[in-house]
Amino acid sequence: MKTRSVFFYISFALVTVSGFAQNYEAKVDSLMNLMTLQEKIGQTVMYSGHWDQTGPIIGTDNDKYIREGHMGAMLNAMSVKGTRDLQKLAMEESRLGIPLLFGYDVIHGHRTIFPINLGLSASWDLKMIEESARIAAEEASAEGIHWKFAPMVDISREPRWGRISEGAGEDVYLGSEIAKAYVKGFQGEDLSQPNTILACAKHYVAYGAPQAGRDYHTVNMGEGELRNVYLPPFKATVDAGVETFMSAFNELNGIPTSGNQFTLRDILRGEWGFEGFVVSDYTSINEMIPHGFAKDSIDAARLGINAGVDMDMMGHVYRLHLEQLVEEEKVSEAYINDACRRILLAKFKLGLFDDPYRYINKERENTTKYKPEFLQKARELAAASSVLLQNKQQALPLSKNTKSIAFIGPLVKDEYDIIGNWAAKGDRNGKAVSVFEGISEYLKPEQILYAKGCDILDTGDSEFAEAISVSKKADAIVLVMGEGHHMSGEAASRTSLKIPGVQPELIAKIREANPNKKITLVLMNGRPLNLSSEVALVDAILEVWFPGTMGGAGTADVLFGAYNPSGKLTVTFPRNVGQVPIYYNMKNTGRPIPESNPKEDYKSNYIDVPNTPLFYFGHGLSYTSFEYSDLELSSESIGFSETLTASVNVTNSGNYDGYEVVQLYIHDKVASVTRPVKELKGFQKIFLKKGETKDVVFTISAADLKFYNHKMIYGVEPGVFEIAITPSSDFKFENTFTLKD
Ligand code: NOJ
Repeated sequence: MKTRSVFFYISFALVTVSGFAQNYEAKVDSLMNLMTLQEKIGQTVMYSGHWDQTGPIIGTDNDKYIREGHMGAMLNAMSVKGTRDLQKLAMEESRLGIPLLFGYDVIHGHRTIFPINLGLSASWDLKMIEESARIAAEEASAEGIHWKFAPMVDISREPRWGRISEGAGEDVYLGSEIAKAYVKGFQGEDLSQPNTILACAKHYVAYGAPQAGRDYHTVNMGEGELRNVYLPPFKATVDAGVETFMSAFNELNGIPTSGNQFTLRDILRGEWGFEGFVVSDYTSINEMIPHGFAKDSIDAARLGINAGVDMDMMGHVYRLHLEQLVEEEKVSEAYINDACRRILLAKFKLGLFDDPYRYINKERENTTKYKPEFLQKARELAAASSVLLQNKQQALPLSKNTKSIAFIGPLVKDEYDIIGNWAAKGDRNGKAVSVFEGISEYLKPEQILYAKGCDILDTGDSEFAEAISVSKKADAIVLVMGEGHHMSGEAASRTSLKIPGVQPELIAKIREANPNKKITLVLMNGRPLNLSSEVALVDAILEVWFPGTMGGAGTADVLFGAYNPSGKLTVTFPRNVGQVPIYYNMKNTGRPIPESNPKEDYKSNYIDVPNTPLFYFGHGLSYTSFEYSDLELSSESIGFSETLTASVNVTNSGNYDGYEVVQLYIHDKVASVTRPVKELKGFQKIFLKKGETKDVVFTISAADLKFYNHKMIYGVEPGVFEIAITPSSDFKFENTFTLKD
């Protein structure tokens, strides 16, 4: 291409794009008329900016690719300075001057880090979750980012899998509601505003059910389970207007999900009508080679684009091979046009063709991070996400008047692990508030005793003696322990669910030395843990996950009763790893354990532990008590087009004001395919002053009772349904209604 025609095309393209076309589609068409096939392919290519997060960087000729128009998007490139330089290169030195799209992993906050996503889900607070996403979008967009690789909406019932920490837990209904809240928070009302960002529903699909809990591993699953459990949160994001999807690493029933025409073309595009673009996960197209699905990288490119993956993240295979594949008629040019069109459309929606530098504003960058109101929200969410698992002898809340309290454990003073994995640009060196700092707001220095006791992964007990001696001097003991942040997240699967290292031994020693003192265990971790020994050794257990930048402050608010805990588990805590997978809405089997004789032989049980979990989905205590009474149904039966209301009185019968998460469950007793023993169908988080009663009302329609049958038809079947409104999933149904023919 000669210089003269390059300039001609640039100006022609810009005039065409901004001047004449009336809507985005027409503008995209005008632009695409000017593009060569290789430039269109260029839009489908994404490379990493200055560093890689999760995989090897293959080739780093970024500037060259940008100049040649062979790159449409970048990940891991941010900051006003960094993105301005790159955008300038694209605008001024590529033939058509098409702006780049900058994407980043903004998972649970950007600078201000909120609790990890599993923790956020335990708040059951959709409004607060949406607000956290909005704040993350504000901060990230102020650093030049247009697109975040979130939300992760993978349902997971697999605590060995490290990425369970990134999702919303095990439940379909709750997971779908939370998925929508994230999308709304990230994308806002108007994508052309510079503080809104493209969301990305990932990892499509069934990535959360890896064989043996090992990351990236095989998934085998019937279509019924896929459609009834793993697909709905993705569908919910489409309904909420999500702009992008990410195909996953795993194979699904023998077909890698980044080359899966059934899930990508038939379901996502065909059934759901998704119009945004699909990006691969990091080299997931290339990984179809070791999967044994693609012969080589040319084949991988063919399989990826033909399946419907529009953009190749880091794989280089689209840039290198798509043109040849079109020439050889192995890939239809129409697929490349579609992919390019979708990506350009997203850039138009963001307003990048009106002003490619609209996210690049030094003043915004300087003034947007860590705003006091962001930090305040992070503190509130740290408190709202924590779950009081156990509170024997009312060990919590702590009293500010206690003469001395010993804080012991490797995470008491931690400012590093507390923000968890995937903490974007969160500062691990001094910005986060440790638990020690948090409790210092409530206690005078002379009331605080401290010993580390051990490191997270220590194998020796050299620091035990000091910790035990400190514990003996105190009137109450708080242990702050758990996993390191690197023990969950990507490629961080574990075969043990125990608190790591010698921490469990230290807990036992401290109890032995203090048989009558109240001991509280504050836990930071990214997955359900096996706490079977600890429940007997300590009085209170407060699960705070990795609570984020303000984690120590929010945790202290709960410990001292300034915030009455209201979090409830969104994932089951097993008794041991041998029970996995264990989740509340399992099937019944033909030989369930009879209530009248739980020990009866030849039933579906274990001979060493009960079937029940240690802590149920939906479980979470409060400092007050709530009583549920007078469940009322508006009718004993409903027709297909009618609705039923179910109501219950909830009374705060204790001594603290507080929030309660009221949960509605149903059970479809007999159906053409077996249905789970319990299914969450609604929830309300209500606030009750002490002594106050509220009538909590849910409305149920036939649509809420739909499921995919064995012919994969989505519908509802008449019959008897059990129903309950309860504080957790640990209950027995006592009421029914009938759906009439
Ligand atoms: C791999 C991860 O699976 C995905 O979640 C992430 O968004 C990409 N890498 C980009 O960092």
